[in-house]
Amino acid sequence: MVGGTGTFGVVTVPQSREEAEDRDAGDPVAALRYEFELADGEPIYLDGNSLGRQPRAAAGRVAAALGEWRTRLVGGWDDWIDLPSTVGDRIGRLVGAAPGQVVVSDSTTVNLFKLGLAALDAGGGGIVGDGEDFPTVRYVLQGLAERTGRPLRWLPTDLDGAALLCLSAVNFRSATLADMAAVTAGAHRAGALVLWDLSHAAGCVPVDLDGSGADLAVGCTYKYLNGGPGAPAWLYVRRELQGLLRQPIWGWWGQRDPFAMADAYDPAPGTARFLAGTPNILGIAAVDAGIDPLLSVGMPALWDKTRALVALLAARVDALLVPLGARLASPADPEGRGGHLAVAHPDSWRTVRTLIDRGQVVGDFRPPDVMRLAPVAAYTRFVDVWDAVDRIASVLASAASGALGDRPAPRRRVT
Ligand SMILES: Cc1ncc(COP(=O)(O)O)c(C=O)c1O
Repeated sequence: MVGGTGTFGVVTVPQSREEAEDRDAGDPVAALRYEFELADGEPIYLDGNSLGRQPRAAAGRVAAALGEWRTRLVGGWDDWIDLPSTVGDRIGRLVGAAPGQVVVSDSTTVNLFKLGLAALDAGGGGIVGDGEDFPTVRYVLQGLAERTGRPLRWLPTDLDGAALLCLSAVNFRSATLADMAAVTAGAHRAGALVLWDLSHAAGCVPVDLDGSGADLAVGCTYKYLNGGPGAPAWLYVRRELQGLLRQPIWGWWGQRDPFAMADAYDPAPGTARFLAGTPNILGIAAVDAGIDPLLSVGMPALWDKTRALVALLAARVDALLVPLGARLASPADPEGRGGHLAVAHPDSWRTVRTLIDRGQVVGDFRPPDVMRLAPVAAYTRFVDVWDAVDRIASVLASAASGALGDRPAPRRRVT
């Protein structure tokens, strides 16, 4: 028996594998799964929050971009020049941003630096970040503090004297979900601008950048946006701030008229000033293909399914893994978490590795002891969640009985 009453929070949880199959049969977005490359008998993939699956359309879209390069050569730029903003606007539809505020550019790390320094240059005061945030966010903030001489404080702290508050809407490890509107309102009362990292939120949880009053945001495209390994990132600057902020990388793509080749830097109006150098057109073509499936059904339908999948996962973790010594390391309240769960166990690393080596389940490991499991609404089924937890439980039970040996699996470069 899983989940007692059959509900977990406000979401009904299947009580058996048959009920999970019924949920799949009635799932309004079930067909989306077939817009992604899938093979029979492959492991259950619960790592789309690290690298999203490849959309079936991606190869054709990248091939079309290669074809334009072949046939149009440099003339292709007449159209490619607009791609950072047209694809940015399409990403904007997934994160509640009206057109003209999102562009595709650089990497998330570089965008954090550009927008973080732009915010600091715009106002005196210190930096506040989250000491539990993804390393690149913490490192960029440390670097900004050293370069500008501004104090850096980690939450929890008050925001008095802060010019910049930077944090993730969904924490990469625990999936803790921030209340973006409340945090932004608090920061504004203290006179700080807020820079959100939406890497684990965009395409997964409903985000309303405009509605929440957000100032600045960045995100990657290779997780829930399915853009592929190292795909270009995106950034958002609220329209009213665009003319007031200057980013630190004065490149020609941020110039008012790049092909005028003017002597002096004169930043373009609008979001173009937050670009730096020549955009990655093949990468943007893949991102465009990656977001199509999400745009076709919209975030509300995806979020309904995500919440139900994560509720089932939480209930199964509670029923099968907690008795084997695991602990939920994500918020228990469905309202307080995003699209994945962190499950802590001393044997997490060996368990994750064993499941991958056996071709059963692909999750990932985050130090010190966390398995991250992400059932992605676009392509994960309820039966996948059901079966994955059975398989994890079986490996954890073997580890406990000594059947996996007593030596930890060696660490890999990518975990
Ligand atoms: C919150 C967050 N920010 C940034 C990144 C990565 O940044 P980049 O794409 O520059 O490597 C990740 C990667 O997982 C992340 O989780």
